[in-house]
Amino acid sequence: MRKKIVAGNWKMHTNIREGVALASAIDKAVEKSEIKSEIGIIIAPPLTHLSLINQVINDERVCLAAQNCSSESKGAFTGEVSAKMLHSVGVKAVIVGHSERRAYYGETDEILTKKIKSVIENSMLPIFCCGEVLEQREKGIHFELVKSQIENALFGFTSEEYSKIIIAYEPVWAIGTGKTASSAQAQEMHEFIRKTVESKFGKDLAENTTILYGGSVKASNAKELFSQKDVDGGLVGGASLDADEFLEIIKSF
Ligand code: PGA
Repeated sequence: MRKKIVAGNWKMHTNIREGVALASAIDKAVEKSEIKSEIGIIIAPPLTHLSLINQVINDERVCLAAQNCSSESKGAFTGEVSAKMLHSVGVKAVIVGHSERRAYYGETDEILTKKIKSVIENSMLPIFCCGEVLEQREKGIHFELVKSQIENALFGFTSEEYSKIIIAYEPVWAIGTGKTASSAQAQEMHEFIRKTVESKFGKDLAENTTILYGGSVKASNAKELFSQKDVDGGLVGGASLDADEFLEIIKSF
């Protein structure tokens, strides 16, 4: 059965003190509360916090993730951090291809494929983001667009490699805007993504793919979104910066 996951993407927020406090609060709350064992919890703090936060996480259900990694494995790439380095400080998953990386740092599908490969080779799980901008939805080309993002970045992998990948559908118009996709819009796209995956990797792998929804997920809308058949959890930005709110979202399953 595919895993249900709630992942918090902290983006470029918190200093080290605040970040450690937030991670500890989430960890303690998860330890104390009754969260169904099949639910995975991921937190993706800024790069500078990873090593220290790894030391304050006690509950094995809380999985540490990075927000990005280099597409290269080592060498003269000033400012870059490799997947291997992330793995060495306890990181278990890496967000790849977030729309902010695609839009502001020019990340192409080709680069994303290299990053995903590197993440898998270093025994971590890639969380691959896809999603359309508002103009593409208004033109009615959102399905086509998401299909091409998935085909270009993921279809070159073997089934074995593909089985490690988590997909996050994040309509760009819903990210940080307070405008969530309706549960029907999310379900429709998630079902389409699963079908797209099935056309290449077959029914079993498609059924086992965790597909997260991202874009203004909050405690007040998570239950409705997560109740959809093909929505397996959320990639949460703003609302993951508050431990109580994040826990409420986790409890929405
Ligand atoms: P948001 O961000 O929840 O603040 O909309 C989601 C994301 O960008 O992953």
